[in-house]
Amino acid sequence: MADTGRRKLGILISGRGSNMAALVEAARAPDCPYAVALVASDKPDAAGLAWAAERGVATFAQSPKGMPKADYEARIDAALHDAGVELIALAGYMRLLSPAFVERWAGRIVNIHPSLLPNYKGLDTHARAIAAGDAVAGCSVHLVTEELDAGTVLGRAEVPVHADDTAETLAARVLVEEHRLYPAMLAEFVRTMTDSPLSRIRSLALALPEAAESEEAGAPSFTVGDATFARLSGDDALEVRAESGWQTLALTGDVDWTLVGDAIARGWELAAPAALLEAGGR
Ligand code: GRF
Repeated sequence: MADTGRRKLGILISGRGSNMAALVEAARAPDCPYAVALVASDKPDAAGLAWAAERGVATFAQSPKGMPKADYEARIDAALHDAGVELIALAGYMRLLSPAFVERWAGRIVNIHPSLLPNYKGLDTHARAIAAGDAVAGCSVHLVTEELDAGTVLGRAEVPVHADDTAETLAARVLVEEHRLYPAMLAEFVRTMTDSPLSRIRSLALALPEAAESEEAGAPSFTVGDATFARLSGDDALEVRAESGWQTLALTGDVDWTLVGDAIARGWELAAPAALLEAGGR
């Protein structure tokens, strides 16, 4: 696939950038639906920046030191826009994005996190998984919202935790899976971005544990156990299960897909059998 027709990706890094490198390498495949338009960093000496530049990828660095966060983010934002970036992948970017920045890019920022979300949001994930005696650890690719590591999960990969693991040995095992999962989930996400509302809803709904698709009154609906958690209503609305009954979301105009994804996930939580939620839920 030529670069025209591919969605333009901006990658934000703070360090070695091994996940960024995995995304750049994957973009060499002829059928990859994204092209890396810019690698940007808050650390001018980030090793990943040099790696990308050596491979002919455009780079940008801006230290946030000595300036208000809003000014720093405005410069990052301008560089992304100048490069024609349409969606952002965070790859070891060690700063919290402001709500205003997340809002500007709503539904178009993804991140990789080294835990099986919703477990172990934040830092020191591997040490925490070991301390808890977990038998399984892993990584998750998720949409970025204002709340740390809390947006819709697009996919996860698991690895076993060994009895003699340290945080370092576990991190190395998880990292191998990160490099597989991130390009795969990003490609899938980019494809759904350009798809019809139904196929986007389908990928969001069917990504949830034990979700299935069926038909209600001739319209696609999504179930978990015996309960429906989301259903199409006519051509241009989605109904999702909510605390107060059914919530209707319009599928016309500029749809906020982050909101739709979160509403679908909440509907699933309300509909899922207790045993499934106790088993860890999503
Ligand atoms: C990875 O473990 C990633 O999951 C986390 O930060 C680390 C970045 O590593 N968000 P790298 O810079 O991609 O090598």
